[in-house]
Amino acid sequence: MSDRKKVRIHHFGEMKARGEKIAMLTAYDTPTARLFDAGGADILLVGDSLGDNILGYESTVPLTVDEMIPFVRAVSRGSEHAFVVADLPFGSYEVSPEQAVESSIRMMKLGSPNAVKFEGGRRIARQVKAVTDAGIPFMGHLGFTPQSENALGGRRIQGRGDGAYDDMLADAVALQEAGAFAVVLEMVVAPVAQEISAALDIPTIGIGAGPNTDGQVLVWLDMAGVGDWHPSFSKTFGEVGALMTHAASSYVAEVKGGTFPAAEHTFDE
Ligand code: KIV
Repeated sequence: MSDRKKVRIHHFGEMKARGEKIAMLTAYDTPTARLFDAGGADILLVGDSLGDNILGYESTVPLTVDEMIPFVRAVSRGSEHAFVVADLPFGSYEVSPEQAVESSIRMMKLGSPNAVKFEGGRRIARQVKAVTDAGIPFMGHLGFTPQSENALGGRRIQGRGDGAYDDMLADAVALQEAGAFAVVLEMVVAPVAQEISAALDIPTIGIGAGPNTDGQVLVWLDMAGVGDWHPSFSKTFGEVGALMTHAASSYVAEVKGGTFPAAEHTFDE
């Protein structure tokens, strides 16, 4: 147990006000959540990136609420200090405010996160209002929204071209007015992300949106060097993938060479 206090929803506005950056990472299981919690992450996001990063789907689209719940529960159990946010996957909130509230309540009851997140701006503002009116903290997600990858024409940088800033700002303001406590800006050109961050009262959390958002988020496998493809906006902060392969090959070599288990790993009687 450390002296660090549990991060709570009111802390994010305070952090924005004093210019302290919010550090968010994805996590999908208890041991990883414990490690990142100990590393000081403010927010752990059980993103629907679970679908393509952990479950081997082609995209986030096939994932369901029921598939996500055990992973959310695992991260909630592993997080002592960090605020846990759970994504609602594609198809679980778009139809109506009622659908969004039902999916959010199910996620909160069975996964025990501190908040939910889903994608979109003005088009889902009624859903956001209904969810926050139900007493559930909500984080928004604008810019490149992977669940709409097909409609957006692929993984394209957002915020370019005439009217793009005004459009994104209108979406961000709609989320803020509907009660969102923060908004993720994904793959947004840096000047637009900066202006939106300055215009909002709530914090923005960037991923591929430059340095001038109120916080940053990365998919943990990208930042830890696991897997063989990483987006250009990410950075490898540790070669965890190479270390795991090394550990596995050392184990295999010792098993095959008969040096593991040794006397100290053996119960004689
Ligand atoms: O699903 C996810 O991991 C996300 C982050 C990329 C923001 O939404």
